[in-house]
Amino acid sequence: MRRITIFLITVFSLTIVISGCRKKEDVIKIGIAGPMTGAQAKMGTDFKNGVALAVEEWNNKGGILGKKIEIIVGDDAADPKQAVSVANKLVNEGAAGIIGHFNSSCSIPASDVYNRAGIPMITPASTNPRLTERGYKGVFRVCGRDDQQGLIAAGFLKNKLKIKRIAIIHDKTTYGQGLADEFKKHLGSNAEIIYYGGITQGDKDFKTVLTSIKEKKPEIVYFGGIYPEAGLLVKQSREINLTAPFMSGDGSIDPKFIEIAGDKAAEGTYLTFSPDPKNIPAAKGFIEKYNARHGELGPYSIYAYDAINIMLSAIKEANTTEGKAVIEKLHSMEFSGSFGKIKFTDKGDVADSPYVVWITKNGKFEEYWKP
Ligand code: ALA
Repeated sequence: MRRITIFLITVFSLTIVISGCRKKEDVIKIGIAGPMTGAQAKMGTDFKNGVALAVEEWNNKGGILGKKIEIIVGDDAADPKQAVSVANKLVNEGAAGIIGHFNSSCSIPASDVYNRAGIPMITPASTNPRLTERGYKGVFRVCGRDDQQGLIAAGFLKNKLKIKRIAIIHDKTTYGQGLADEFKKHLGSNAEIIYYGGITQGDKDFKTVLTSIKEKKPEIVYFGGIYPEAGLLVKQSREINLTAPFMSGDGSIDPKFIEIAGDKAAEGTYLTFSPDPKNIPAAKGFIEKYNARHGELGPYSIYAYDAINIMLSAIKEANTTEGKAVIEKLHSMEFSGSFGKIKFTDKGDVADSPYVVWITKNGKFEEYWKP
């Protein structure tokens, strides 16, 4: 009897141990990486919210490959070094794929880690061309590129505003300086660049540089950078009576930009971004769901939502989480995104990524001009 009892206890304990182990393997982990803390935390939170909505929908339908999907979050705080540690952490924790990062300066070094590990990565927001120019098969983006974005901004100045005296500021980051350079390149020989220089991310007082720009009488001030600095530049320009229009890129399209600049100072500022999803019927369902759960849609939430849906569809189709097979599916399949069909080029860019010019009016961003 005693032997039978010991045997039963052993079998029972083993069952617990095995089911405990299996429970761990019974989820598919996807890493979400971006700035979850710090000045750009709003963007990271937007990513997380968009991804979480998609994961909930997949899990409600039973998950994939018979497993539930679990999100593991990596906070890079918009810092390239932290992005590399976060990338290693997500790989070590068993992420089958990565949605992220936000900043190109983080996505590029982190992609070295994912590439070595053979894990696919889809960034919703990193627009610097170099990200997909290094021959990494597993690196994708669902947003556009700064060579396309800079071209549209330059075209807007040439064809719509018809102005020539241009001051260019950038934040010395991969994205900010890269975008400023693309913009400058596309302006061509007709433009007169009366100022070109960098500021430092995190600084709070830009009045010295703005005062020297004001003396040169620019017709527009263009900024390559993100909303915390963009907002301060606009606020402080108006404070010193530098009234030339201000223009920037996708890094500024967040309500925080207007909040930091102030409604009055932000009025009439321009930026480039993709078309407004509110005018796209296919995006309606997601936007309503997002609004009900998290309030106003973040500019990159919908891209994060598309990115995770694409990643999970590829895993489902590959019928495995094995990186090589998933990457192959990411290259060969056509996906349904909020803006329409998405097909990746050999480099991992989206084949079609239109940019338009937006304007700030009455404390809100609205679509303004397209080429
Ligand atoms: N588009 C911005 C970047 O690439 C967010 O860093």
